[in-house]
Amino acid sequence: MMTPGATKFIAPLTFQALSGASVSVDPFEIPRQDDIEHIELSHWADVIVIAPATANTLAKLAAGMADNVVTASVLATHAPVVLAPAMNTNMWENPATVENLRRLKERFFYIVEPEYGELASKREGQGMGRMARIERVLTQVLYAVTQPKTLAGVRVTVTAGRTEEYFDPVRMLTNRATGRMGFALAEMAVALGAEVTLISGPTDLTPPDGVRYFQVIHARQMLEMVQSHYPNNGVLIMAAAVSDFRPEAFSQNKIKKTGDSLQVRLVPNPDILASVAKHKKALHVGFALETDDEIERARDKLKRKKLDLIVVNNPNVPGAGFAVSTNKVTLLFKDGTTQELPRMDKRLVAREILIRIIALLEQAS
Ligand code: C5P
Repeated sequence: MMTPGATKFIAPLTFQALSGASVSVDPFEIPRQDDIEHIELSHWADVIVIAPATANTLAKLAAGMADNVVTASVLATHAPVVLAPAMNTNMWENPATVENLRRLKERFFYIVEPEYGELASKREGQGMGRMARIERVLTQVLYAVTQPKTLAGVRVTVTAGRTEEYFDPVRMLTNRATGRMGFALAEMAVALGAEVTLISGPTDLTPPDGVRYFQVIHARQMLEMVQSHYPNNGVLIMAAAVSDFRPEAFSQNKIKKTGDSLQVRLVPNPDILASVAKHKKALHVGFALETDDEIERARDKLKRKKLDLIVVNNPNVPGAGFAVSTNKVTLLFKDGTTQELPRMDKRLVAREILIRIIALLEQAS
């Protein structure tokens, strides 16, 4: 759905072509045969997101107006509505806008506050009022659609990403994990109301809003962090791809090339899951990445590391594993049951995993 103002910036045809969905602009237009009538849209939607929401649209919504397809749908819906305001700084700070936002919050609109940054108006340059990052908008959407919050008050500690094991100031042993799966789990757990601690190895990702975030470099630091943020009576999810080995020695200076071969002796890293399993006081969820015999090996890990659930993925399956936004996983439970999930976006995989965790917590209580 686009307001008349929005169509001055981007043609509806562009949106239609990019999204593959039909675009509603005129509330009085008679829909084509396959299209949903705009008032039907307001019943059909699980959530309505207005991004960007202008000062003008906020004012109309606060007043309950229904003069275009967007405002009319919002007035007619029972679904949660997420607003991501974007405007120039003066409009944002104007008492009229402040008052409109207060009224909208009172009526349970979800507001994703704008950020400081470059604005569309070149005269203003930097300022407050730039639309929130898409990740923040998405978090609010997840939050809105997952009400009631079924992890409310539950402590969840998630590890993510890879570790880097240095043997001189610039060289190290690592792997290709990006942290996406762990970040998606943390984000979704926040959306479900959990108190989330996210411990990640080096990553380019921005931590989701609402998590306590700690960054570590190597496995021993990660072990220490997991021990100090161990979620008693809660949930520990180890999605990190921890390096199994580290170089035995660390050279303070960069190792010079001499023309000879270099021997780097590797020693085993502590197994974080195995070490916290000794005093287990939470639900433990592990991940397994295997290229062969994955189910068999994962079942063995589940037992050995005393896990309640293990999520298995094989990086050789298209759309699974490292550095892709989708994943295809199989879930193995302590009671011996197995569930294979279809390939889907990592956020949705995260949601499915957390839904199972909620069920396990309910069984345990
Ligand atoms: O044994 P493997 O590394 O395949 O087990 C994977 C699971 O164990 C993952 O959940 C991973 O985060 C965790 N792990 C760990 N400490 C290690 C290695 C892996 O906790 N040193």
